[in-house]
Formats: sequence, C-alpha cells, structure tokens
Amino acid sequence: MELAIAASEGVRGTTSPNPPVGAVVLDRDGLVVGVGATSPPGGPHAEVVALAAAGERARGGTAVVTLEPCAHHGRTPPCVDALLAAGIAEVHIAVTDPNPVAAGGVAKLEAAGVRVRVGLLAQRVAGGPLRAWLHYARTGRPHVTWKYATTLDGRVAAADGTSRWISGEASRAEVHEFRRKVDAIMAGRGTVLADDPRLTARLDDGTDAPRQPLRVVVGMGDLPAGAHVLDDAAPTLHLRTRDPAVVLTELTSRGVVDVLLEGGPRLAGAFLAAGMIDRVLAYVAPQLLGAGPLALADAGVSTVTAAHQFTVEEATMVGSDVRISAVPMRG
Ligand SMILES: NC(=O)c1ccc[n+]([C@@H]2O[C@H](COP(=O)([O-])OP(=O)(O)OC[C@H]3O[C@@H](n4cnc5c(N)ncnc54)[C@H](OP(=O)(O)O)[C@@H]3O)[C@@H](O)[C@H]2O)c1
Repeated sequence: MELAIAASEGVRGTTSPNPPVGAVVLDRDGLVVGVGATSPPGGPHAEVVALAAAGERARGGTAVVTLEPCAHHGRTPPCVDALLAAGIAEVHIAVTDPNPVAAGGVAKLEAAGVRVRVGLLAQRVAGGPLRAWLHYARTGRPHVTWKYATTLDGRVAAADGTSRWISGEASRAEVHEFRRKVDAIMAGRGTVLADDPRLTARLDDGTDAPRQPLRVVVGMGDLPAGAHVLDDAAPTLHLRTRDPAVVLTELTSRGVVDVLLEGGPRLAGAFLAAGMIDRVLAYVAPQLLGAGPLALADAGVSTVTAAHQFTVEEATMVGSDVRISAVPMRG
C-alpha cells in the first residue's frame, strides 16, 4: 500500500475530476509485478495500468489499491472486470468509494470469490492523496485549502504593504510542491493589486513546472494590464463575483477538485464565513511586525463563542517556520 500511495502521489493534479489512485499487483509469491496510477481523464485507471505491467504474472496474485475498484462503466470499462479477467485472487483496498454510481466493487469481487480486505492505511490515504477527491465525491464541490504565511502576531504583510519574505525558503519551496499537486490556485483581486503574484507552480530550480494549475482571481474590478497573472505561464480565470458558492460552482464545472486559496484576508474571510474552507495551512514565521494586515478579515464573527473552531491535525517545523494544518470541527 505504501507503494500504491507513492504512485498515486505522483499523479496528483493530473487526474481531476477523477481520483488520483495508486495500484500494485503482486504475483502468487508476493513479488511486485506491476505498479500503476490513474491516467489523465479518459485514460486507463490505476488497476488497469498495474495489471498491464504484470501481464500473466497477475494470475492467482494480489492487487493492492488505494480506492475501491469501480464496478461501473464510465469513460472506461469497470476495473473490477479487469481484475477478475486477470485472475486476481485477493484485493486489499484502503478506502471505499462514497460515490453510489461507482461503488459496489467490493461486493462484486466477493461475489466472484475474490478475498477482499478493506481499511489498510485508510487514514493515510483519506487524509493524503484522496482527501480532496473524497470531499468532492461527498459534497459535489471542490476541496479548498486556505494557505497563508503569517508572523507570530498574525500579520500577512507589513504596514507598507510588503509581504514577500514572511516565510522562509524551506516553506516557500514546500508551497510550490503543494501548488504542483492542485488543480487551481486562487487569490482575491486585492492580492493581485498589492503583490502582483505569478501564482505558478515552480520546480526546485525556480523554473515553471511543466504542468500548471489553473490560476483563479476573484473580484468585480479589472486586473491591471501588465499583471503577472495575465501572462502566458498558465491559464487564468478572472471571476467577476464576490460569492464563494458561485466561484466553486464555476470551478466544479471546469473539473476542478482541489483548490489552494492563497488569500488574501478578505477573500479568505468570505470563504470561511460561507463554510467553504476545508483545511487551513498556516506557515507561521518567527517574526513580529506589530502593524500591517492580519491573515483574515471579516469572517462573520463578533464574539468569541462564535469563533470558527478547528482541530490541528499536524504541526511541523519547516526550516525556521512552523507549518500548522487544521481542519474544521464539524457538527
Ligand atoms: N502573507 C500571505 O500569505 C498573503 C497572501 C495573500 C495576500 N496577502 C496580503 O494581503 C493584502 C491584500 O489584502 P486584501 O484583503 O485586499 O486581499 P484579497 O482578499 O486578495 O482581495 C480583496 C478583493 O477580493 C475581491 N473579493 C472577492 N470576493 C470577495 C468577498 N466576498 N468579500 C470581499 N472581497 C472580495 C474584492 O475585489 P473587487 O473589489 O474587485 O470586487 C476585494 O477587493 C496584501 O497586503 C497582501 O500582501 C498576504
């Protein structure tokens, strides 16, 4: 399953609206004979790629898959049929498919006499490579991670508007890794006016990654003609609205499943107030400014009992910064 997870991580950002799945096929003796991951939409699914690599060695063997194999005919035939045709005897699955149309894979495999085990490294998969897609499958809207870099006193820029080097080099490199794996990077028009960000995913050497997420700028007003987001480094969508629901509906129609919301404070506040932030990723730098814009503007809270409550799922040192990942407490 570790191998299947690694394979799925490698295709994140290229499969939406399909899930980035990883699959491994072992022969009868337990040797790895095939590894696969989801192809871009319309191409073969992970199981089919892994089975093709394994060939006849799959017969009597075991398949290990991060997501329940599909039992329905979408753009490609059901993966369950491919597993049965290859003579797979045992299947290990991390998480089941919440989509009622695609689910039923486990039942169909068991009915055909295949031994099925569900739940192996389920939390790793559900909180990692399949997090955004599982959210999308359950809610019908993209998963939104709000990422920002802040000082210890919660500021995202200095009083003169400068914000460029709040987080350290290691944090910035990590952000590009996140950017490379999402479908869209979103910012408010105010951030474009203040910082003129490029909003592209860069490689470690500073050059643009070969695949770029969609850049999304939200705001009613025009963008300055020479703004970096209007260059040809990546496609850009300017949505002239202030309604987070409209933004997510528009992104859903474009097959976007995983969104990185990179501020600024007012757009993030609107998404938080609308209940449309699914994860907070804060890079907290050991600096104090004492003045300047705060990470979040009006989020509809006027008293402490009305605070938006989150659970910290991870806190890790990144260079000299601390990265905090937190998810909303639901219910
Ligand atoms: N350190 C960091 O991580 C980080 C990241 C981003 C930004 N920043 C800093 O944040 C500051 C900019 O703050 P900002 O608040 O102007 O940025 P913002 O939230 O990016 O932009 C505000 C603009 O977004 C549009 N918008 C869309 N939906 C909205 C809604 N529901 N409510 C309000 N506005 C909405 C509006 O544009 P229209 O008026 O055109 O409708 C509004 O003027 C800069 O100093 C920048 O450096 C820091």
